[in-house]
Amino acid sequence: MQINPEGNPKRRRCMLGIIGAMEEEVASFKEKMEIQEVRTIAGMEFCRGICENQPVIIVRSGIGKVNAAVCTQILCDVFQAEVIINTGVAGSLKNAINIGDIVLSVDALQHDMDATGFGYEPGVIPRMETSVFKADDALVDLAERVCREVNPDIQVFRGRVVSGDQFVSDHVVKERLIRLFGGYCTEMEGASIAQAAWLNGIPFIVIRAISDKADGSAEMDYSEFEMKAIEHTVRLVTGMLRNM
Ligand code: ADE
Repeated sequence: MQINPEGNPKRRRCMLGIIGAMEEEVASFKEKMEIQEVRTIAGMEFCRGICENQPVIIVRSGIGKVNAAVCTQILCDVFQAEVIINTGVAGSLKNAINIGDIVLSVDALQHDMDATGFGYEPGVIPRMETSVFKADDALVDLAERVCREVNPDIQVFRGRVVSGDQFVSDHVVKERLIRLFGGYCTEMEGASIAQAAWLNGIPFIVIRAISDKADGSAEMDYSEFEMKAIEHTVRLVTGMLRNM
């Protein structure tokens, strides 16, 4: 995908699908957009319209990899999305990444894919060309630059997002994700969105604000810091739209 860092007004505007994991986050985007159409498919409400002068579809996928993958496929098939942005919160897998900071996906994989009984490494999807889905470099560059501008008070990291149908709140599980996969953060949708985008040949980025440390304190921290984390991602994604 071509993204002009100066923001080229003559560039063809492409249809962006924005998937938020939670209602609170989707609600903030909806407030900022001019909604032209609302369609419910597979129980998900897809809002098509304009946000920061960009054509967008914003949708809450629901939690977990199946919801997120179905949602991504609908964005591709029904709405002809050409770029997918996934935002939400995540648990940190690195000491240096604090609550409120942002992780931008370099790539994403599913930590709960397990065909080790067949001799595959953990996380490897049998009979697929790849199990590590690479995000679009131009989107990651843009997100990093915009994040430093609009969220100067927090840190932004580029790293691997590891996803699974599991809320990680145990340090043993956390250590395994670090040791086996080198994850920067863990959540429950990103890699399935990445895989669906890859299967459809469209660029994607996963943008996650840290709500907890994915250990014994995760449940309490999550409730306390979720809204603050969401503020950072909403500010970042709207900033990206302005710069596309
Ligand atoms: N989303 C936010 N925090 C998370 C965690 N600790 N595990 C999985 N998903 C999350």
